[in-house]
Amino acid sequence: QNLHFVTLLGSLRKASFNGAIARALPNLAPEGATIAPLGSVRDFPHYDADLQAEGFPAAVAAMGAAIRAADGVIIVSPEYNYSIPGALKNAIDWLSRLPDQPFKAKPVLIQSASPGAFGGARMQYQLRQCFVFLDGRVFNAPEVMVGGATGKFDQDTGDLTDQGTRDFIAKQLAAFAVFARG
Ligand code: FNR
Repeated sequence: QNLHFVTLLGSLRKASFNGAIARALPNLAPEGATIAPLGSVRDFPHYDADLQAEGFPAAVAAMGAAIRAADGVIIVSPEYNYSIPGALKNAIDWLSRLPDQPFKAKPVLIQSASPGAFGGARMQYQLRQCFVFLDGRVFNAPEVMVGGATGKFDQDTGDLTDQGTRDFIAKQLAAFAVFARG
């Protein structure tokens, strides 16, 4: 059966390296799998239980429905101060309070990029911790942590051009598809 994955992006900036990775994913997907972006988390308000009591924001409810309908979620995010960017964490906090919590038993894949050497590794392990509580099925190996990002993207278009990185991501996606089917 065909698989449909959705991407959740942790950076809001236009020239984002992580955004460029998310953009590259549909073309790197294995046969039988499609990948499409979820909406931006830019317009999610700060999580507030009082606001939730008035009803979930439409953007939160819509993203939750899209995640529930998908066969897996691919989170592509930078690392901020060795941790999860606030906008992404805020989105996860909102989504986690939805009835029929959308990450439960959902296959989750994490990818990150950074100009630094570690490629966002520390953020990835903090994100994994969230999905213990949310009972997601986080894919383990291979891990995609794109370090030295400055040299791996086209200076003009911003696209992910490094062939080794593209090949490795394609390999990871193929393994994730097997995992998601299992
Ligand atoms: C960073 N950056 C960063 N990089 C890293 O590898 N580890 C870190 O802990 C941090 N911390 C950090 C904090 C804050 C507030 C900012 C704005 C940046 C650098 C970061 O990796 C770089 O700006 C990336 O380009 C951000 O990802 P996008 O927007 O290109 O996807």
